[in-house]
Amino acid sequence: MPYTCIVGLQWGDEGKGKVIDFLAKEHDAVARFQGGANAGHTVYANGKRYSFHLLPSGILWDDVIGIIGPGVVIDPDVLIKEIESLGDLKGRLFIDPRAHIVMPYHKLQDFLFESSSKKPIGTTKRGIGPANRDRYARIGIRIGDIFNEDYLNEYITRAYDFNRRIVKSYSHEFPELREILEYLRNFAEYVKDYVADVVVLLEELEKSGARILLEGAQGTYLDTNFGTYPYVTSSHPIAGGASTGLGIAPWKIKRVIGVFKAYTTRVGEGPFPTEEISEVGDMLKEIGGEYGTTTGRPRRCGWLDIPLIKYAVIINGCTDLFVTKVDVLERVGVYKAAVGYNINGRYSELPPLYPYEWEMVEPLYKDFPNWENMLEYVEKTTRTEIIFVSVGKEREKVIERKGG
Ligand code: IMP
Repeated sequence: MPYTCIVGLQWGDEGKGKVIDFLAKEHDAVARFQGGANAGHTVYANGKRYSFHLLPSGILWDDVIGIIGPGVVIDPDVLIKEIESLGDLKGRLFIDPRAHIVMPYHKLQDFLFESSSKKPIGTTKRGIGPANRDRYARIGIRIGDIFNEDYLNEYITRAYDFNRRIVKSYSHEFPELREILEYLRNFAEYVKDYVADVVVLLEELEKSGARILLEGAQGTYLDTNFGTYPYVTSSHPIAGGASTGLGIAPWKIKRVIGVFKAYTTRVGEGPFPTEEISEVGDMLKEIGGEYGTTTGRPRRCGWLDIPLIKYAVIINGCTDLFVTKVDVLERVGVYKAAVGYNINGRYSELPPLYPYEWEMVEPLYKDFPNWENMLEYVEKTTRTEIIFVSVGKEREKVIERKGG
């Protein structure tokens, strides 16, 4: 079967952009299945730094097709900017018309909710939550809704009224309907050449023997169902999300590569048992360059958390693992990881099930003489092989460990 899914096993920022870029050369297409412009994938190639939010990172290879599925929410401003930065992508980038649009009022609401809340989530303020709320409330605007003006004029009224009422409740101005329609008209004109039925496209690619990468954004513990709710994103970054986000039957995804960083980071609020609010945390942050690609926010840093990895490997059904940033740990010179937890007097090798237990987690650490030993421990615990070890930013800095 042609599909390989790449997923993050922590709270995002595992280095998936680099992994996808590294693997893309052996693939014909890369498809994104969830998230939106909240993602930030950094790729170093040809001596340049690229950062993508919406485009599949594999698009940097000229002969790779980029696909964006209905599970993704699309910010028109970001999409246009990224396409323009690479030149014309017609015939090489395909977007499903069932993908929802992140409207300017979604971004505004994300900002208003976050800045007025006593307990913010720490979102990227890219409108992801409000856009996906509208998706499930069945008032979302999809790309396929904007090409027929008569249809759109009638359809948009429910979304307009609902969103206007929310924004007005914050005593904030709301644009006129005609301004919103004008914005969508301009976007329709731009995006029309990129629209395709990705179900048909993927089937045709399958038939032609193409190899296709499925690119997850964020990570398992930001999944709406399986993450540290409510401190999560509004999508499904797990392998199952690839199936619903692109319309691919689950049984066709035979390979799932789980990506994790040799230590742990998190941006935004929420539980983080192995967090180091200490000099070590600062060292990891500085040496690892742990600042958000999307918002520039410093990431919270701490040791590798093996119970988290173990549980994420189960959720995603990982067939192989890819570890990144081992060089950062090498420079810090300490190889330490949580191998279990004391949760309120109970020993556990799995993350807590109940939200209030996260506060009670005391990580139990193990020191390893070197990273090779630490990775062997991860393999034993997860019963999954680590096939690649990334030891630097550039494409070439990857050690193939076993049958990679
Ligand atoms: P949202 O996705 O912007 O709604 O943010 C919800 C949570 O997910 C916040 O904690 C964000 O920091 C986090 N988040 C969203 N996208 C990413 C990402 O690409 N990497 C890491 N964290 C992310």
